[in-house]
Amino acid sequence: MRPWAGTLVFVLLGLTAALFIGFYPAFTWGSVPQDDEQQGYGNELIIKFSHVVAENTPKGLAAQRFADLVKEKTGNRVKVEIYPNGVLYAEAGEVEALMRGEIQMIAPSTSHLSEHVPSWLVMDLPYAFLSQEAVKEAMEGPIGQQLFSRLEKKNMIGLAYWGNGFKQMTSNQGPLRQPSDFQDQRFRIIPSRVIEEQFKLLGVKSVPMPFNNVYRGLETGLVDGGENTISNIYTKKFYQVQRFMTLSNHGYLGYAVLMNKKFWAQIPPELQRGIREAMAETSAWANENAIRMNERQWNDIKAAGSVEIHTLTPQERTEWRKAWEPLYDQFEREIGRDLIGEIRKLQDKYEGH
Ligand code: LMR
Repeated sequence: MRPWAGTLVFVLLGLTAALFIGFYPAFTWGSVPQDDEQQGYGNELIIKFSHVVAENTPKGLAAQRFADLVKEKTGNRVKVEIYPNGVLYAEAGEVEALMRGEIQMIAPSTSHLSEHVPSWLVMDLPYAFLSQEAVKEAMEGPIGQQLFSRLEKKNMIGLAYWGNGFKQMTSNQGPLRQPSDFQDQRFRIIPSRVIEEQFKLLGVKSVPMPFNNVYRGLETGLVDGGENTISNIYTKKFYQVQRFMTLSNHGYLGYAVLMNKKFWAQIPPELQRGIREAMAETSAWANENAIRMNERQWNDIKAAGSVEIHTLTPQERTEWRKAWEPLYDQFEREIGRDLIGEIRKLQDKYEGH
């Protein structure tokens, strides 16, 4: 063989290997590489489900349980393939990808939908939900229904709400007790105009940042702090690169579990039924599990002893609520009077919880 022929064969082999291995998982045919039992091979329906958190979080665990139940309830005719940790899409891209049908399922935190449908900003209003019961009532009642119905014109349908938990504040600059303690800090935020204004009212500069960059942002001092749930602070180890944490429960982080609407419409009714059943079972479990996980991981954070913890007193909480009260008027037009009215009713009902 001539010397250049050997090189050519080598390059061709390399290119072929890159096609099949290197570009995976963005480049897949059906379920060939992952079809565990080869049952229903060739005619099973694949649902690709992308999310940005770790597999051992409330959302990651719920996604896996859903996949297992779908398999069982559809007799292996539907397979849910999960892509965690933002390996397929970061938050900013996943909603667009769902609308375009490049991915079939996502479960973004509700804030990420507000850019596309502003009424979703309602979920970010500070102290909108004063207890877990209030969240449940909101999601199962008119608030949850109205928000889902507004997604349909964007080619998305809502299958369920999954909870994560209440958000807490963390910082490296000092304890956060009074609204004035936030002054001049830089905080990582999920992009949402309500969250940006929430921090602006406290004199904080907001830095929108994808979830999977937050640890590094905190570690390098690009940002001083942020807000997140106990389970996210724990599983992504934010508490190891933050010196102060305030248990404030000032906002709620929940997920909208969504499917591409056109894709859903093409699923035969008996499979849709199996998927719905799997989702109902998963959601009941997931919402309880999220509460348990946040409680357990709160104890783990305390036990680690690396972060100084403060729990807001009722008086301090009143001060925070007062500082943020203007947001309700400021966003009333965008969110809609009806939804703000529903939140007010819930607040009255759960005041004092
Ligand atoms: C965040 O960006 O902090 C959260 O939305 C991540 C998540 O999905 O829980």
